Amino acid sequence: MHTDLFDDNPADALEHVARRALDLRTRLHAHAHRYYVLDDPQIPDAEYDRLFNELQALELAHPVLQSPDSPTQRVGGKPLAQFASVHHTVPMLSIRTETDTEATGAQNFDTRVRKELGLTESDPAVEYVAELKFDGLAMSLRYEAGVLVQAGTRGDGQTGEDVTQNIRTIHQIPLRLPVAAPAVLEVRGEVYMRRADFEALNARQRAKIAQGIKGEKTFVNPRNAAAGAVRQLDPSIAAQRPLSFFAYGLGEVTAQENGGPEFTTHFAMLQTLALWGFPVAGQVERAHGAIELIAYHRRMGASRDRLPFDIDGVVYKVNALSLQRQLGFVTREPRWAVAHKYPAQEQLTTVLSIDVQVGRTGKLTPVAKLAPVFVGGVTVTNATLHNEDEARRKDVRVGDTVVVRRAGDVIPEVVSVLLEKRIEDARQFTMPHQCPVCGSLAVREEGEADYRCTGGLFCGAQRREAILHFAHRRAVEVDGLGDKLVEQLVDSNIIRTLPDLYKLGLVALSSLDRMADKSAANLLEALEKSKQTTLARFVFGLGIRHVGEATAKELARHFGKLDAIMDATEDALLQVNDVGPIVASSLRTFFDQPHNREVVEQLRACGVTWQEGEPAPRAFMPLAGKTFVITGILPNLSRDSAKDQVEAAGGKVAGSVSKKTDYVVAGADAGSKLLKAQALGITVIDESALLVLLTASMD
Ligand code: IVH
Repeated sequence: MHTDLFDDNPADALEHVARRALDLRTRLHAHAHRYYVLDDPQIPDAEYDRLFNELQALELAHPVLQSPDSPTQRVGGKPLAQFASVHHTVPMLSIRTETDTEATGAQNFDTRVRKELGLTESDPAVEYVAELKFDGLAMSLRYEAGVLVQAGTRGDGQTGEDVTQNIRTIHQIPLRLPVAAPAVLEVRGEVYMRRADFEALNARQRAKIAQGIKGEKTFVNPRNAAAGAVRQLDPSIAAQRPLSFFAYGLGEVTAQENGGPEFTTHFAMLQTLALWGFPVAGQVERAHGAIELIAYHRRMGASRDRLPFDIDGVVYKVNALSLQRQLGFVTREPRWAVAHKYPAQEQLTTVLSIDVQVGRTGKLTPVAKLAPVFVGGVTVTNATLHNEDEARRKDVRVGDTVVVRRAGDVIPEVVSVLLEKRIEDARQFTMPHQCPVCGSLAVREEGEADYRCTGGLFCGAQRREAILHFAHRRAVEVDGLGDKLVEQLVDSNIIRTLPDLYKLGLVALSSLDRMADKSAANLLEALEKSKQTTLARFVFGLGIRHVGEATAKELARHFGKLDAIMDATEDALLQVNDVGPIVASSLRTFFDQPHNREVVEQLRACGVTWQEGEPAPRAFMPLAGKTFVITGILPNLSRDSAKDQVEAAGGKVAGSVSKKTDYVVAGADAGSKLLKAQALGITVIDESALLVLLTASMD
């Protein structure tokens, strides 16, 4: 026996379910439009999913309710053997392209239009619509009685391929139009892939390749990925390739019997398309005459790299449809539109060699030396391969034909290799384990992407940074030795290694640009003064990776003598407060480099000295594990001396307040840090309370 509520009348039952399905579809359409087109969702994703699942269940239980405009149809149907043909009654035309990258492209177009229209100088400027030229593929979407019935590629302009199944998977494309739409409406636009979607897709593809799944590949650029997805015979695969769409024109349009909208301008037509639910790019603008077109071209060119999708130019169109009709076509191109391109950001070239460059901080970067190629507006001969993993992933080899990309002011990079053009025996690149500049060991630490040269003090590439660090106020402190001066000294080869600092004479210094005798004398005095330092400052000044000021102090306190630090085994180093395996290994590697030891010896020979002490393993440190932030002006202690004292008691001093802060020491004029501490409920103390904590630690 049935228990269905409508058991007595199955027709009623079906009508009820049909109404519910219609209601669900209408709501899902509206929410999808807000989410995918307007980027302004109204309901949580889970709620959308709930409505979607309900509709799917209804359609499954009642196949008669299935309809091509249902949101459930976006997931993709059965694979096809081949695409059917689509005939375009209104041909899909291409547009003339101005390839010059300067303003003349806009100027030439405006001049031609004015001439064709018979305008003279005294006539007003022609009104245009300026749009982006999306880098995807052209698509014609056909709606009959408001329902999407067919999507066709451009093909030869007359006949394209029917890719309706795949296009249905694009959430931005409405499957149904509002009732006011014409009886037959063909919307023309561009299918493309957003850059973020492209990156995510390629990441997924790489993961599949890494798992050994056969037949998978990565895509060269978003356009390529979009084209691949559109021409995918299996729509369930297309559904996994996130595509987007922008509308920019119309094909065949048949008005309804009751009329329907009559457009007089291109701009109004785009506005109506947006109203009907189609995505129209926000950068569409009206522009008057060549000057405003040129300004648009410049402005979009400057912001091109910040767009979430690729464009390869802009498009200008005469706005008034009556003028468009008057201008007509030459062969297969309208006289009323033109594409004004930007220089291509990607080009093909060949790899001449692969070098490794050493940065100022010792980072090794593999760089492909290229046959010169004009890309992104400049001639490029070098392109970065970033690091070992990237170089391996792209597997770039000498002799390879590669895609180089230069976008905006970003360093040019090798995007991918054209494997089909690889020469035989092309050797794989391997990262060297020696610094190409100084020959020191290069290491890649666990969890890091980069190799680094460990010859920090000796390496020519790192000289500048090493000297600046050594001379820092909280290191060995050479007053007056700043950025500019170090650069001059290094560039003019007056200083090659750190010890050269102490060999500087008045003559050499005075020969520098803008160096008065007085400043030269001051610098020499500061250098002389810096020779009297402390072991902690000296160790910090060596710029050993991972050895900050606090660690240097711990090392000095623990070992007392420099030689003891230099000769300590990793195990011995691990006994030091604050020293873990990474720091211990970094110290060992540093002092194992003969060059680094040599520099230390030379510095000592130049007279850099400090008071050596007795080893003092692990003192009692009551502030151990406590983090302090010091803010404002303390009545007696300077900021530095307060910091030193906290650290001597085992505490840490941080620069900003966070949940991890234990105490904020506030003096006069304490500002935002104090407010933040109060907001986070962190204990705030004054100088005298700090002194109590510190003296307590001496007991
Ligand atoms: S209008 C009759 N507008 O560029 C004019 N085309 O040859 C038809 N494109 O492959 C085209 N963005 O797919 C127009 N805002 C835009 C465009 C655009 C990209 C593509 C189009 C076609 C090519 C023009």
